[in-house]
Amino acid sequence: MRERAATSREHLVERMDRPDAPEDRLFRTLDQFGVVNRFFTRYRDVLARTVLRDMRRAPDRDWRLADLGAGGCDIPRWLVRCCRREGLRLTVAAVERDPRILRYAAAANQGYPEIELVAADALDPAAWGRPDFIFANHLLHHLPDEACVELLRRIEAQAPARYVLSDIARSRWAAAPYALIVGAFFRGGFLLEDGLASIRRGFTRADLHLLIARAGLRDEPRLQYRFPFRWIIVGAP
Ligand SMILES: C[S@@+](CC[C@H](N)C(=O)[O-])C[C@H]1O[C@@H](n2cnc3c(N)ncnc32)[C@H](O)[C@@H]1O
Repeated sequence: MRERAATSREHLVERMDRPDAPEDRLFRTLDQFGVVNRFFTRYRDVLARTVLRDMRRAPDRDWRLADLGAGGCDIPRWLVRCCRREGLRLTVAAVERDPRILRYAAAANQGYPEIELVAADALDPAAWGRPDFIFANHLLHHLPDEACVELLRRIEAQAPARYVLSDIARSRWAAAPYALIVGAFFRGGFLLEDGLASIRRGFTRADLHLLIARAGLRDEPRLQYRFPFRWIIVGAP
């Protein structure tokens, strides 16, 4: 059987990524990411079982995490609050390339000196600051296949203690429930149209296997499916 050369993802540009996106709608979208991430991405559970568990094994040392494509930074703020409660010391490099989103995040991160905003392309390891952990939620589907492959290679070359990449599982069953929930409760931003485009830019299991194989990693990451429509790639190179 011949191996597939490319994934079957669609390559669309989301409204939030366009330079002419009205800023009020973009910021409303970022407000809404906080709620959507909380209820649909399972990030709290995932980070508790990976990053926080690792940190608890060495509670006296300083830890660093790079959040790639950090957006409005609701996830690193939650992680920092968890660390503060447990007396764990974490600094975060929140890497984001969009200047409008960086301005939003700077305002939202007031009172979180642990989070450093880094204006850079997520694929530039110099921006990560030698982290113990590399995390990304919903970055991969913004990248073309070749960039996903290159990102995996660069992450492995950095040899973090662990990396966790969370993204959308593409499925024809995802669009209708997404449109129903978002159409009813999350108006005023780009969540409906961008979310539907994101589902089409998301990954099947075969897509991720192909990209991981193309990266030629020494240590293959684990691929976990989580309800609803979510892939978690966890590596410990
Ligand atoms: C769907 S948002 C997710 C934001 C955040 N991680 C979250 O879960 O709410 C994707 C983010 O990645 C950023 N992004 C996309 N491509 C990027 C790149 N090559 N380098 C840095 N940031 C990027 C976008 O500007 C956007 O803020």
